Amino acid sequence: MIFSFSAADLSTVSADLLVLAVPAGAVAAAVAPLDGPGSFSGTLATLTRDEEFTGKAGSSLPTPSLGHIRARRLLLVGTGGGSPADLRHAAGIAGFQARVRGAKTLAIAFHGATPNPGVLRTIMESVAEGNYRFDRYKSEGSRKAPLESVTLVGVTENQAAVDQALASIAGQNLCRDLVNEPAAEIYPASLARICQELAGENITVDVWDEDKIREKGMGGIAGVGQGSTRGARFIHISYNPPEAKGHLALVGKGVTFDSGGLSLKSNDNMLTMKCDMAGAASVVGVMKAVKALRPNVRVDGIIGAVENMPAGNAYKLGDVLRFYNGKRAEIHNTDAEGRLVLADCLAYASELKPQAIVDLATLTGAAVIALGDWYTALYTRSDDLSAALVGHAAEAGDGVWRMPLVDLYRDKLKSEVADLKNVGGRAGGSITAALFLSEFVTCDKWAHLDIAGPAFLESPLLHYTPGGTGTMVRSLIRWIEAAGR
Ligand code: BES
Ligand code: MN
Ligand code: ZN
Repeated sequence: MIFSFSAADLSTVSADLLVLAVPAGAVAAAVAPLDGPGSFSGTLATLTRDEEFTGKAGSSLPTPSLGHIRARRLLLVGTGGGSPADLRHAAGIAGFQARVRGAKTLAIAFHGATPNPGVLRTIMESVAEGNYRFDRYKSEGSRKAPLESVTLVGVTENQAAVDQALASIAGQNLCRDLVNEPAAEIYPASLARICQELAGENITVDVWDEDKIREKGMGGIAGVGQGSTRGARFIHISYNPPEAKGHLALVGKGVTFDSGGLSLKSNDNMLTMKCDMAGAASVVGVMKAVKALRPNVRVDGIIGAVENMPAGNAYKLGDVLRFYNGKRAEIHNTDAEGRLVLADCLAYASELKPQAIVDLATLTGAAVIALGDWYTALYTRSDDLSAALVGHAAEAGDGVWRMPLVDLYRDKLKSEVADLKNVGGRAGGSITAALFLSEFVTCDKWAHLDIAGPAFLESPLLHYTPGGTGTMVRSLIRWIEAAGR
C-alpha cells in the first residue's frame, strides 16, 4: 500500500473510491465542494437529506459518482465530534468499504479536520486495518482486490508518519496472517522458521528444539508439547542496537493449536484454537516493525511454541512439571497449558534483566467472559507501566482494561504436592492465571496482557473482519518507540 498527499480539488481527484469524512452537523458545508454545477449539482444535498445522513460517527452513505466527479464512487463517512477515535474509525470504514467494492485506489479527505502527525499515522493504519482480508484459500474469482494506493487529500505531507504507519501495518498484518493460517501451516517449527527470517543487522534469532528445551530445564514447554508429533520450539529474537538507551522484553504464548490435551475441549471450544498463538504472533509482528523502525532500545522477543495435543505420551493430570526457575507445578487440567509455557518464557526473560517485560497471551476464557471481544485484560503491579500501555493503546486504537492482580487469591493455586497447581478454579480465572505467571517473574515492571477476547473475532466488529485482529501490536510498537526516544 502506497500513501501519498494531494491538495487537489475534490471533484478532480481520480480514484476508484473517494471518501469524504464529514463531522456531525457539517454535512451541507462538507458536500458543497462536490455539489456545485458541473459536479453533483445539488443532488448530494438531496441525497444526504433523504437518507438522513447527519455525519454521526460510524455512519456512512455510498453513492456512485455517475460521472459527476472524476472518482468512480463517493462514500460519505460520519466523524461525529471529530475526536481522534472518530477519525480513526472513519478511516477504518474507508478501508473496509474499499475492500468490499474491490477499489484499488482510494482518496480520503477530512472535512474541517487537520489531523496532527500522531492521528495521521493512526488514520493510515486504520485504512489498512479495515482493508485487511485473509483470502488466500479462496478461489481467484471470489477475492476482492486490496488497496494499492491511498491519497490523503488536503492533509499536510508527512513522510515520517507514513514510514511509521507502514512499519506498523506490516507488523500487524503479519500478526493477523499468522493467526489466521491453519495449525497445519503454522506449527512450532514453521513459526520458528518465520522468526528466523527476521535475523539481520543487530538482530539475532535463537531457536531451541525439544531436546534443548528439556536440557535447559524448560519443563513447562516440554511437558505441554510432548503429546504432539510437532516438536516444541523455544524462540528468542533479540534486537540490540549498539548504543541502546533501554532494554525491553516481550513474551508471547505460542500454542499453535490448543486441543486442551487430555482435558480435551469440546468441538465448539476447540474450533478457533488455531488462534492460541496470537500472543506469539503479536511478538513476531512487533519485532518485524522494530526491524523497520530501528528504535534506539534493546528489545527481546521470546516465544514458547507448542501444540497441545492428547496422545499416549501426552502430559497427564497429576503430573508435576519443573520450570526454568526451578519451581514446580502439579497439573490439574491440561487445558490450562498457556501459563505453563509462559512460566518458562517469563523466567528466561527475567534472567535477561530488562527494564520491563510485557507478555501477551490468549490465556483464559474467563478474560473473554469478563471483557468481551474488544478489551484486553491488563495485569500489572506497576502503575507507570499500566499508564504507559493504556496511553499508547488509546492512541493506537486498541482496547485495554486494567484488572486487579491481587495476592488475596494466591491461595487458590496451592497444591498438596508441588509449589503450585496450574488452575485456581472458575471464579476470577483470569486473575489466578495472572497470579500463576507472577511466580515466574523477577522484574518490577511486568505486565501481562490476556488477549483471549480481542485477538480473534468470531463475528465482525467495527472495521475488523472475523479472525485475527493484531490487537496490541500497534500499541506495543508505540511503547517501544517511546522508550527509544
Ligand atoms: N487458549 C485457552 C483460552 C482461550 C479461550 C483463548 C477462548 C481464546 C478463546 C486456554 O489455554 C484455556 O484453555 N484456558 C482454560 C483454563 C482453565 C482450564 C483453567 C479456560 O479458560 O477455560
Ligand atoms: Mn487451553
Ligand atoms: Zn490455550
